[in-house]
Amino acid sequence: MEIVRRVHAMREIVREARGRRLKIGFVPTMGCLHEGHLSLVRKVKELADVVVVSIFVNPAQFGPGEDFDRYPRNLTRDADLCVAEGVDYVFTPEADELYPPGPKTYVEVTGLSDRLEGKSRPGHFRGVTTVVLKLFEVVQPDFAAFGQKDAQQAVIVRRMVTDLLLDLEVRVLPTVRDEHGIALSSRNRFLSTEQAVAARAIPRALEAARERLADGRVEAAGIISVAREILEAEELLRIDYLELVDRETLWPVTTVDAPAILLLAVECGETRLLDNAFLDPS
Ligand code: PAJ
Repeated sequence: MEIVRRVHAMREIVREARGRRLKIGFVPTMGCLHEGHLSLVRKVKELADVVVVSIFVNPAQFGPGEDFDRYPRNLTRDADLCVAEGVDYVFTPEADELYPPGPKTYVEVTGLSDRLEGKSRPGHFRGVTTVVLKLFEVVQPDFAAFGQKDAQQAVIVRRMVTDLLLDLEVRVLPTVRDEHGIALSSRNRFLSTEQAVAARAIPRALEAARERLADGRVEAAGIISVAREILEAEELLRIDYLELVDRETLWPVTTVDAPAILLLAVECGETRLLDNAFLDPS
């Protein structure tokens, strides 16, 4: 496995691979890899001949006062995990290479970026789509994998790919959870023991919502309120948003008569936790 730090070096590798008609699979990450990231790597490895993982803590997607500085970084450990998974290249550029000094160009998916997570974190998705487009441009993947865990991000990236006619296939893969059902996240390490116990209410809330729908109770208000009650019973959790939305448009629904998704963000101390559940009427 090779660690690639320079854009021009990555381009050279990509040019050579494409010349040999090899399929390139790509997993963009911010590092501090866990089983969630690795599940994406494994899928991409099934699809592609060459696997590229990017590790880049993208300043453009963090707002002022957010956790950019304390975001965990551990390239040595990440590189070892990538070797073990048979990754071919870890692309880990410096910020000034991806963002050359001077005026900036941004790409933004309108209509999807300013709600839910984007409402709480203005500019966040603009930062995500801008960096993902830059990374796609350098890596030129045939396949790129994203996690369902960040469901709004996945919908927005898919929309960008469709709308800008990008020639690649986006795969969105299931959320990997720990033994208590908590979605794995690089930020979980910031939780104290008590907070980690409180966070188990999140998968319980999502499960209660699923059960209510399974009982044939399709009204959104009722589904949301069973989930809300479970989350509110935990003093250490503060709900930022809890919304039942259409799976493609991300607009709120009043009944689950088409594929929907229950999306939530909660604050647990200083740590922001995101999760979601697919809700299907059938
Ligand atoms: P990061 O949070 O490192 O996540 C990288 C990818 O791993 C994303 O597609 C995310 O949805 C996926 N992922 C995270 N936790 C997961 C879990 N528990 N199960 C399955 N997949 C999981 O998301 C980002 O980085 C950034 O916004 C990025 C797309 C790299 C742009 O900077």
